[in-house]
Amino acid sequence: MSKKEKLSTDPYKGVRDFYPEDQTFLTWLKNTCGKVVEASGYVEYHASILEPSELYKSKGVANEEIVNEQTYTFIDRGGREVTLRPEMTPTVARMVAAKRRELGFPLRYYSFPNLFRYERPQRGRLREHWQLNVDLFGSRSTSAEVEVIALAHALMRAFSATEADFEIRISSRLFLNNLVRALELSPQNSKILFGLLDRREKMPSEEFTAGLAAIGVPTESITQVSTPLDVAVLLEQLRALGVTNAKFDPSIVRGFDYYTGVVFEVFDLHPENNRALFGGGRYDNLTELFDDEPITGIGFGMGDVTIHNFLAVRNLLTPYTPNTECYLAVTDKRLVPFAMEIANELREKGALIAVDFGDKKLADQIKTATKHAIQNLIVIGDNEKESAEFVVRNLTTGEEKKCSRRELIQCVK
Ligand code: HAM
Repeated sequence: MSKKEKLSTDPYKGVRDFYPEDQTFLTWLKNTCGKVVEASGYVEYHASILEPSELYKSKGVANEEIVNEQTYTFIDRGGREVTLRPEMTPTVARMVAAKRRELGFPLRYYSFPNLFRYERPQRGRLREHWQLNVDLFGSRSTSAEVEVIALAHALMRAFSATEADFEIRISSRLFLNNLVRALELSPQNSKILFGLLDRREKMPSEEFTAGLAAIGVPTESITQVSTPLDVAVLLEQLRALGVTNAKFDPSIVRGFDYYTGVVFEVFDLHPENNRALFGGGRYDNLTELFDDEPITGIGFGMGDVTIHNFLAVRNLLTPYTPNTECYLAVTDKRLVPFAMEIANELREKGALIAVDFGDKKLADQIKTATKHAIQNLIVIGDNEKESAEFVVRNLTTGEEKKCSRRELIQCVK
């Protein structure tokens, strides 16, 4: 093959390769989120990445932008139309509807799926992302909304965010529907209004005002509204739980048709990352797609990309270290079997050890350990083999510790 014919090492546009440092972040994120939500009784579920396309086309689910422009859809070998899921909510609604009689309500479910949307890749938006989904089914109580929004807050706190770093902006579809009614907007104009509200943060205020004027909506009817009752009660209960950075924001609409009640978004307040981090809301009718009896749900989706940006602009990302605790290098290939014996002894005591095969010079073996960011190094030579005395070097600090074969485990752990 000539150089020109070689395949590109780039991943497909808008998706990522997860090298160990990236995968470590994702694992950390999933584990941290799992800990927070499991503490409130949420249990993990999962499902296939493939769904029949009709799931996203049904009236009541659709986000037109996602269905018409952003799904990865193909025909399988049996002629069925299949979609790589762009979100998890229709899937979890399907699962809950399928077992409604066996499941106990309120039902608390969480998942961390990989999702695909054909978007224009940009900061915070890719064609593939991982998304924590937290959903509570079967309760219409405001307490359910309080619990779910308090969890969004607890997650942010678990990422070391302070209340000054972010804001929880809440509105309600009830309020928006009443507004549309009071303004006597046609269905088409109310769609335009929701679109304007949804993109409000992304446009100059004059453009927003002009957009409103074009559909005959006075700006004050959006900017000078008092907090609707459902949101006011929620805010009060959240405050009692120590969530003091939540507020009513009439411009929160959220893109999906399925939301019927409270909707919310968590915003980053950092000037370099002033954007929505994640969001969700209440949806009453999704399970009706599968069954006549509706089960109400409330939940949110939180993407890995926006949280990574949130942490990166604040230097809150922990530097990568592999789980591997110690690297064994050898002064000669002959000593590899002995190094493997030592490694096994340490592994039995719970240490995570990688062994070099001695194909390269000792200096290069040490360079490899450094490239892997492994913390400890032991060089095994004839002296070590005979004396059963070893030196454990910390590759970050340069500190060295002498220890006997029996003591080695304490030095590498
Ligand atoms: P969504 O607002 O479409 O809601 O997505 C939720 C979050 O997922 C976003 O705020 C963002 O953090 C992340 N996200 C979405 N699209 C992308 C993308 N292209 N690239 C990177 N991150 C992205 C939903 O998906 C609802 N199903 C959430 C939900 C769960 N509502 C109730 N339960």
